[in-house]
Amino acid sequence: MRAKTVEREIEELRDTLRRHEHLYYVLDQPEISDAEYDVMMRRLQQLEAEHPELVTADSPTQRVGGKPREGFVKVPHSSPMLSLDNALNEEELREFDRRVRDLLDGQSFEYVAELKLDGLSMAAHYRDGRMHQSITRGDGLVGEDVTENARTIRSMPLKVKSDLAAFEARGETIMPRRSFEKLNAEREKQQLPPFANPRNAAAGALRALEPSVTASRQLEYFAYFLLVDGRFYYESHWESLDALAKMGFKVNPRRKKCAGLAELLEFCREWEGKRESLPYEIDGVVVKVDSVRQQQALGWTAKAPRWAIAFKFPAQQRSTTIENIEVQVGRTGTLTPVAHLAPVTVGGVTVTRATLHNEDEIARLGVEIGDEVLIERSGDVIPKVVRVVKQGAERRPFRMPKHCPVCGGEVVREEGEAASRCINTNCPARLKESVSHFAARGVMDIDGMGDVLVDQLVSRGLVKSVADIYDLTLDQLLELERMGQKSAEKILKNIDASRKRPLPRVLNGLGIPFVGERTAQILAETFGSLDAIAQADEEVLQQAEEVGPKVSESIRQFFHEPRNRELVERLRQAGLTFEHAMRQKTGGALAGKTFVITGTLPNLAREEAKARIESAGGKVTGSVSKKTDYVLAGADPGSKLDKANQLGIPVIGEPELLALLK
Ligand code: IVH
Repeated sequence: MRAKTVEREIEELRDTLRRHEHLYYVLDQPEISDAEYDVMMRRLQQLEAEHPELVTADSPTQRVGGKPREGFVKVPHSSPMLSLDNALNEEELREFDRRVRDLLDGQSFEYVAELKLDGLSMAAHYRDGRMHQSITRGDGLVGEDVTENARTIRSMPLKVKSDLAAFEARGETIMPRRSFEKLNAEREKQQLPPFANPRNAAAGALRALEPSVTASRQLEYFAYFLLVDGRFYYESHWESLDALAKMGFKVNPRRKKCAGLAELLEFCREWEGKRESLPYEIDGVVVKVDSVRQQQALGWTAKAPRWAIAFKFPAQQRSTTIENIEVQVGRTGTLTPVAHLAPVTVGGVTVTRATLHNEDEIARLGVEIGDEVLIERSGDVIPKVVRVVKQGAERRPFRMPKHCPVCGGEVVREEGEAASRCINTNCPARLKESVSHFAARGVMDIDGMGDVLVDQLVSRGLVKSVADIYDLTLDQLLELERMGQKSAEKILKNIDASRKRPLPRVLNGLGIPFVGERTAQILAETFGSLDAIAQADEEVLQQAEEVGPKVSESIRQFFHEPRNRELVERLRQAGLTFEHAMRQKTGGALAGKTFVITGTLPNLAREEAKARIESAGGKVTGSVSKKTDYVLAGADPGSKLDKANQLGIPVIGEPELLALLK
């Protein structure tokens, strides 16, 4: 009897707490005081402590239950999470509207305009009304399982009312301005570098290994898509937004159905004017065609839907005073003058520094220390100085130092170049930058090897080239400041894991000027191995897409330099990946299978079908041959279908593909 009443009380408390959380965190309309809420929460905690057998994962007490993690598991998305094309001004929005109208050929249609929150997209999966998995966008095909962290977001419902057995809410995770400012103020107190913007801070919080860290960062989640089996469930976008809100998700109330361009422009202008009054950062307005049937008719390009666009607001500008100009030494030895500013908020973020690029730029701007200048911040780019607003009364010119401020080495500016460089290849500043770049997330991804550790490794002479990273020993690491046995072992483990990073990461990590993430990817795909790239002459290199004379010369020069050749050899000895494994994944549901697509599929755009096949390890080619495993055919197929029938190759439709993908 007693147990029954306790169970009842627990359930009632949970329902009441959930209702007040929804009122507070989702609707911003609290009905009770924080103290009243706390009393109920404490009662629930007490009852659950007395009856641990009654604790369930969706209880409001269980948001921060997860344990710290080693890392995140990669999970494929139910369908690609693609990005949006941008319209950078009104004319480009007009063009988008023209294209949509042309393609819809006179049909009437509506748009939905929403604020473009500047955060990270995430997919939250629900089964039987409970959130059971949240996945970051990742590369769009595969993301990271951040469920434990997502549970700590108070506006993310752990339990929803819905008839759907399983569905997925996609939306944006953001850090509101207030949480961002609080976090940066705390970091400053602890002498930690501040986050550049709320988006970066949110990314850090969402990927924190310790869920309680995520919880303390006060993120919010806004839902904007509802999917079942990777596809939109309702017939219109507007309907799905309403349905999400009804289920208990936070859906941005600042949204509008627009009949045409004029109303869209009005919405965009309105929010551009009011953006700073919002409690979070936005960088534009997202415009979507409302009807899902019409969305399907418009289809997708490889990267983005043709039925939606992001209207981006122009950069935000403010004026402030340049208090000083100092130089920073980068990883190629380039000295970059950086303006130290009287703090000013631009678009809700406090800015204290702006880059001045080089001497020519300073001359072009005519800027001197003490001047009042206009600075501009656009998205997460470091702010830049636009022009001088007013010359300072006691202004003084900046002079590029003749000696490197870090190593004292000679500073040289080559004929025809804008940059001044420290020519000491052993300059610790250069070395630190290149080691940090090598170890960075998205490059060799050596977790734990942040700036503080790199600083120590370089200053103590333990790392004189990135190859030395792979010779580090436990004893060496243990000698460093604030380094315990556990962290040292972990770092060695992470270093070891980095040996497996694919070739494009290794190439990017080398720090060849002009070879970033994208070019590295293209080079790896075109040439297949590091040796092939190292040996190619400039003409051959230029056969790769997007590689012109500047890039090819830089690559040649890099591999010509004996020091770099030695570095490459040592990295080979260390067991890094020098060969490029072509896209095909093993182990996916479609590993090793080759598909040809023909005709129009009922729901999936061709690019989407392709992406899904590829993310399951399959390959899509353009023509049917004996090597083809399946021909995926939709309406109005071409001659490929005849060819398939001739060769006796199985022909499947979209439903069969979806079944195979499962
Ligand atoms: S729709 C394929 N709606 O903006 C559709 N995105 O530039 C993609 N974003 O990756 C997303 N607010 O991170 C959509 N109301 C909104 C959004 C939104 C912010 C972000 C999202 C997306 C990026 C695209």
